[in-house]
Amino acid sequence: MSFITLENVSMTYGSNGTRTTALSGVSLSIGEGEYAVITGESGSGKSTLLCLLGGLQLPTEGRISISGTDLSTFSADNLAGFRGRTIGFVFQAYHLLPYLTARENVMVPMAIDKKSSREKIERAYTLLESVGLSGKEERLPSQLSGGECQRVAIARALVHDPPILLADEPTGNLDSATGDQILDLFSKLHGAGKTILMVTHNRWNIERGTRSVLLRDGRIAEDNPLRPVHRASRPAVPAQAGG
Ligand SMILES: Nc1ncnc2c1ncn2[C@@H]1O[C@H](COP(=O)(O)OP(=O)(O)OP(=O)(O)O)[C@@H](O)[C@H]1O
Ligand SMILES: [Mg+2]
Repeated sequence: MSFITLENVSMTYGSNGTRTTALSGVSLSIGEGEYAVITGESGSGKSTLLCLLGGLQLPTEGRISISGTDLSTFSADNLAGFRGRTIGFVFQAYHLLPYLTARENVMVPMAIDKKSSREKIERAYTLLESVGLSGKEERLPSQLSGGECQRVAIARALVHDPPILLADEPTGNLDSATGDQILDLFSKLHGAGKTILMVTHNRWNIERGTRSVLLRDGRIAEDNPLRPVHRASRPAVPAQAGG
């Protein structure tokens, strides 16, 4: 079953004199449990594609659906709720809050959860342990290495156990050995059933995926399966999703 679907999606920024077409007529179907690695030159539309998939912006044309639900049918509040349960984002620049500790950064998405603060702290500790950061929970980002900051960002993305992870150049700021460790973590998450879409500039990272998608000038230039897709053993989208 197709899990994430783009039908004839176009995205144009600006108006008249400043118009830029970032994506034009993109159709793509991603199955559950896939690990799609997206490459393409700077400006080819990779980040735009992830933003649209994550419902951070709506396309100027076309339809995007996740697990059968058209993202454009949500109200802003419902879209934010759906996104929170369904999608975890990881960015090149980590986007951690500098004045919060690793644990506090991981707790940010839990702010409005109906859980006790003790439960939230325990969840943050469990997640930080799962990304290899035990003992560093109370450090500020400035007291962590780049790879460790990215681990905090990944732990934060996993707070609501989303079935989908979107990562935009998650190793872009890291040396290759540290980047490989972060990719090992993504492979582990993929093995645990996550559907992953990752943008990367490094073509060596492509072989991590089950599928490689190349964008050129806002269009899909190549789309190649690399290996069989892991079949997830968990429900694709949390039961309450969709409304
Ligand atoms: N908010 C915006 N307003 C106007 N134009 C934009 C905006 N965001 C992106 N663009 C333009 O859309 C095109 C695609 O940008 P996008 O960021 O998706 O590319 P990318 O493939 O992620 O590039 P990079 O590898 O440099 O990150 C580019 O021409 C860019 O200048
Ligand atoms: Mg980009």
